[in-house]
Amino acid sequence: MRTLFIAGNWKMNKTAAEAVAFLSEIKDELNAIEGIDIAVCPPALAIPAVADLLKGSKIGIGAQNMYFEENGAYTGELAPNMLVPFCNYVILGHSERRQYFGETDEGVNKKIKAALAHGLTPIVCCGESLEQNQAGETHDFVSGQIKGAFANMTGAEATKCVIAYEPIWAIGTGLTATVEQAGGIIGNTVRATIKEIFGDDVAQKIRIQYGGSVSEKNSAELMAHPDIDGALVGGASLKAAFVDLIKNAQ
Ligand code: 13P
Repeated sequence: MRTLFIAGNWKMNKTAAEAVAFLSEIKDELNAIEGIDIAVCPPALAIPAVADLLKGSKIGIGAQNMYFEENGAYTGELAPNMLVPFCNYVILGHSERRQYFGETDEGVNKKIKAALAHGLTPIVCCGESLEQNQAGETHDFVSGQIKGAFANMTGAEATKCVIAYEPIWAIGTGLTATVEQAGGIIGNTVRATIKEIFGDDVAQKIRIQYGGSVSEKNSAELMAHPDIDGALVGGASLKAAFVDLIKNAQ
């Protein structure tokens, strides 16, 4: 049995002060929710204040990106060991990083290995564009992303990761993939590719989230699909309704 995992990706929203004010409002309610793993992924500068506020709570903390090198002349980047004191998770290969910041499968692969070496759980993102979806290329493209991201890794390493399938056309658009679409790609493409690379045991253990316009209105039906193990939530994780989104998923 895979435990549901719902994480909020705040993207470039909320200052440290805003993050603390928001989480102070909802943290007790989040802490009271049983049986679901929960995390928030604030902007990097808000992470220490959030970690301080959430000390001793069951709410995990994730970063939204990380570089793979240990240190050095990489202006603007954060190294794994800078995240470790505060974070349990790190989102890697989000489509916005691929689109705006030149992230590649090869880079994501290096970042996954670096995160695991430092005991951070990678949330590895994949997902096709609208054009790819309409051209019937979703399976081959997403499968290729998974093969690239998980190249030269062991099954034991892969098992420690979380994958988020986020069709780009569903991100921030209010267009959610239907349960059948999302569950179908997650099962027949994402999990099937993990099975092809690492075998059925790893494929059954690895958690695969859906992301793309998840809200308190659709979380229950999405999470009811046997192949959908949670959600990576953008916009709806910035408001108090994030609590209802998780409660409804439960
Ligand atoms: P939205 O929930 O705002 O569509 O964003 C999804 C996402 O990109 C989470 O990483």
